[in-house]
Amino acid sequence: MPLVSMRQLLDEAAKGGYGVGAFNVNNMEQIQAIMEAARETKSPVIVQASRGARSYSQDRFLYHLMLAATELYPETPMALHQDHGNSVETCKSAIAMGFTSVMMDGSLMPDGKTPSTFEYNVKATREIVEAAHAKGVTVEGEIGVLGGIEDGHGAGLDGLSHLTDPDQAAEFVRLTGVDALAIAIGTSHGAYKFTKKPTGETLKMDRLIEIHKRLPNTHLVMHGSSSVPKELQDIINQYGGKLKPTWGVPVEEIQLGIKNGVRKVNVDTDCRLAITGAIRKVFAEKPEEFDPRSYLKPAREAMKKVVALRMTQFGQAGHAGDYTPLPLEEMAKRYREHAAA
Ligand code: 13P
Repeated sequence: MPLVSMRQLLDEAAKGGYGVGAFNVNNMEQIQAIMEAARETKSPVIVQASRGARSYSQDRFLYHLMLAATELYPETPMALHQDHGNSVETCKSAIAMGFTSVMMDGSLMPDGKTPSTFEYNVKATREIVEAAHAKGVTVEGEIGVLGGIEDGHGAGLDGLSHLTDPDQAAEFVRLTGVDALAIAIGTSHGAYKFTKKPTGETLKMDRLIEIHKRLPNTHLVMHGSSSVPKELQDIINQYGGKLKPTWGVPVEEIQLGIKNGVRKVNVDTDCRLAITGAIRKVFAEKPEEFDPRSYLKPAREAMKKVVALRMTQFGQAGHAGDYTPLPLEEMAKRYREHAAA
């Protein structure tokens, strides 16, 4: 089946009361890991590429790897999403290439670090909604500012500086018509989210619940949702790594989010940790090896394991065959009809 609209995946997730993991990729092994996990758990998938990933892979490589995935895993509904589009141009180029979903992150200026104004955010996001919906492509917007800066997306603030304001979120959705909304509730990108297990003081699930009450029909997106499990940190450190003690977002908090309108859960760091731990292990235990496959295969397997576990924990497992994917033209027609109504 061709690449599917993310909106359809999220609408189905809302009907079924589950969340869908959105996993970041840069290369073939990561795409294969996700696809194998999806096959094993019978899950629909969202594969996402940041601007950095598009530049690393010269993006057409990534795009064609995704087309290969649609041929090799025809039973899996999959959306290809632009993660953190920093500008109108980035999103438009993703749409032109064939991404079926884009995030216009107008919460920051195009430099990816300076918080923007509400007016700028609305204007840029609205422009992308018009361009994307005309082609049946999904749009995720962001209101409030995420902390962290490790991956080049985030204001470098502590996670609590710019939490999403529920009134502003409702106004933003009304003015832009986004399909999905990323909110800031204290999470940040990367491995160093919390210095101890988060409490209600540092991870504001109450804020998320309040936003969902205001916007019951908007699919909410949790960014920075890696759990940064101690087991994965330990493998890296056991084989010569130097990660400092750190905490991520506990899976049970994500599950609470899913009960309260979260339909897309962004995970990158956990996959990076799994890959790096597996590679370090081979390097430490078999220093005579020099065939890249000797460490890339275990790396791919380690990522597959963490992705399959998250697919089960988020509830998307078992739902791949629930529905027939709609062509993007049909999605475009629905957006047109909705706008005219
Ligand atoms: P993590 O760094 O927690 O995996 O978050 C990834 C993310 O939100 C990508 O947009």
